[in-house]
Amino acid sequence: MNEEQISRIEDQHLAATYSKLPLAIAKGRAASLWDAQGNEYIDCMGGYGVAIVGHCNPKVVEAIRKQSEKLITCHGSIYNDARAELLDKLIHIAPPNLSRAFLCSSGAESVEAAIKIARRYTRRPEIVAMTGSYHGKTLGALSVTWTQRYREPFQPLLPEVAFTTFGDAEKAREAVSDKTAAVIVEPIQGETGIKPAPDGFLKELREICDAHGSLLVFDEVQTGFGRTGRMWACQHWGVQPDIMCVSKAMAGGLPMGAALAREEVMGAMAKGDHSSTFGGNPLSCAAASAVIDYILDEHLVEQAEKLGTVFKQGLADLSAKHKSAREARGMGLMLALEIRFDVHDLLLKGLKERVLLLYSGKNVLRFLPPLVITEEQINRVLDVLDRLISAEEKTRFEH
Ligand SMILES: Cc1ncc(COP(=O)(O)O)c(C=O)c1O
Repeated sequence: MNEEQISRIEDQHLAATYSKLPLAIAKGRAASLWDAQGNEYIDCMGGYGVAIVGHCNPKVVEAIRKQSEKLITCHGSIYNDARAELLDKLIHIAPPNLSRAFLCSSGAESVEAAIKIARRYTRRPEIVAMTGSYHGKTLGALSVTWTQRYREPFQPLLPEVAFTTFGDAEKAREAVSDKTAAVIVEPIQGETGIKPAPDGFLKELREICDAHGSLLVFDEVQTGFGRTGRMWACQHWGVQPDIMCVSKAMAGGLPMGAALAREEVMGAMAKGDHSSTFGGNPLSCAAASAVIDYILDEHLVEQAEKLGTVFKQGLADLSAKHKSAREARGMGLMLALEIRFDVHDLLLKGLKERVLLLYSGKNVLRFLPPLVITEEQINRVLDVLDRLISAEEKTRFEH
């Protein structure tokens, strides 16, 4: 199928819930993608942060191939070797206090599980979430997501959700009470502009939760698996959650997520309290085992930190050079360049330059490339951005 046929069929039959780029991708390898005509792109979108070990990582492909010849589905009510192997590896790399996992198939599902686990353990109804948060679009996850335009058409959402200002410990102290089951927070807010928690904030949340017997939930769906230069972003601040949501990168592109919890906390969940037909299926588990092995064997966490420093410095240089580039921020290879105008045109022009960019809010360029991106590719992206921003400034500010 050519690009025209592909987009025509998708536009005709797919629920029109995505704003589409004029691009049909047919193939991927490492940090490169190819469109239906065979043009190669550098991928700075990474499937919204999924492609951490690179597209079609050969180790992951091999693990999927082997497992697909053996067993693809096995319900959670039956034991399975691929699942046991993954759990061993996952708990080994998880923050030390998290020893139990509920396995599911997406980020939103992991948040749904976290909310239920927190309510079950504390027997309290209320969840405190953050301004600027994004936790997914299923009804429970949407209830703790901040963005009004996502929430408003689907009211009423979960009652007993309170929002407090991201980064403001004093306000959090006022918002959390003995009715609070959990506080949920992204250590670095991803969908709303790449905003790291200010130093000290997560530690204060930990203390506030402890003072009230509330649970602290970290949503590491976007930040996990080495993305930020630590295996988990919370490790930048040395704070442990009671529950941690993970997904995206977990199975190399196959749908997978998990809610990890402390032994005692997950112990509150009784048989039948929660389930998911595809959760922990052997195929996704085998892929996830290969992803974890690859991250550890190839030192991708260190790689994210090293390349992130290069990339961020390049973005900082752009922001020093161009008056319309406001700020470079982020950690590891979860980066952003805030621009003084709507970046949509830059995304479209980036495609013409064979770079796939991503936004995070109207005026923020977000970078979530595979951690296997090369320094040469990063320099090419920086060069393209430099030219595109210069050209955009010419048309906008010099008439
Ligand atoms: C921090 C965070 N939580 C949850 C989600 C929802 O994940 P999914 O789209 O897999 O439901 C996302 C997705 O972008 C996310 O960034």
